[in-house]
Amino acid sequence: MKVLAICGSHREESNTNKIVKRVAESSGIDFELVEVSKLEIKPCTGCAACMMNEGQCVIDDDMQGVYDALMETDALIIGSPTYYMDVSGAVKSLIDRSMAIYYRGVGPEYNPDMPWMGQRPLADKPAVVVTTVAGGGHERTLETLTMCIGDIHRMKLVAKIAEVVKMDDVDDMPEVMQRAEDAGRKLGQALAQQ
Ligand SMILES: Cc1cc2nc3c(=O)[nH]c(=O)nc-3n(C[C@H](O)[C@H](O)[C@H](O)COP(=O)(O)O)c2cc1C
Repeated sequence: MKVLAICGSHREESNTNKIVKRVAESSGIDFELVEVSKLEIKPCTGCAACMMNEGQCVIDDDMQGVYDALMETDALIIGSPTYYMDVSGAVKSLIDRSMAIYYRGVGPEYNPDMPWMGQRPLADKPAVVVTTVAGGGHERTLETLTMCIGDIHRMKLVAKIAEVVKMDDVDDMPEVMQRAEDAGRKLGQALAQQ
């Protein structure tokens, strides 16, 4: 069993990334961290080559390693800071590019009447989504993450974390870290039941 934990913020002392890590550590399962700040992930160009090419994206960058990790994982944690009341551009690029895995011949069809929508290799696997925000706008970030990871990738969202942190540090907010630990435990339990 393995959990993939995607830390979406580029900030060194990122609150979002700290929560993602705490969720992963609390799951009790081996986890792999993907630090988006350390990777080059270019935007999806919409070329649709992946749709014709067994899910192979033609962009030669660090997303290639993320594809492998997504295909191998049993569960996902993904965190994005809230930027302009939604996910950050960096996280959205990763999510956009994740479309390629729909065409690797793995998982249930999204909709048999719409074969161009491909398959869902992550279907029914448990996931946790995370955002932090200074003041407001996190509701829409959660909506985006729920739609992309829950509705479109068809993962089972066991917890959604959205924390209003002002300009503070979550290391000084034990109630926030408690919620992260609770979410991690839920993720571990969901995996045990798989
Ligand atoms: C480009 C940008 C846009 C932001 N947009 C919002 C926003 O819409 N609402 C808000 O309350 N805070 C906003 N913030 C503040 C961040 O949401 C907040 O600092 C967040 O906790 C950063 O997460 P991190 O510590 O994981 O990087 C924005 C910050 C940046 C850099």
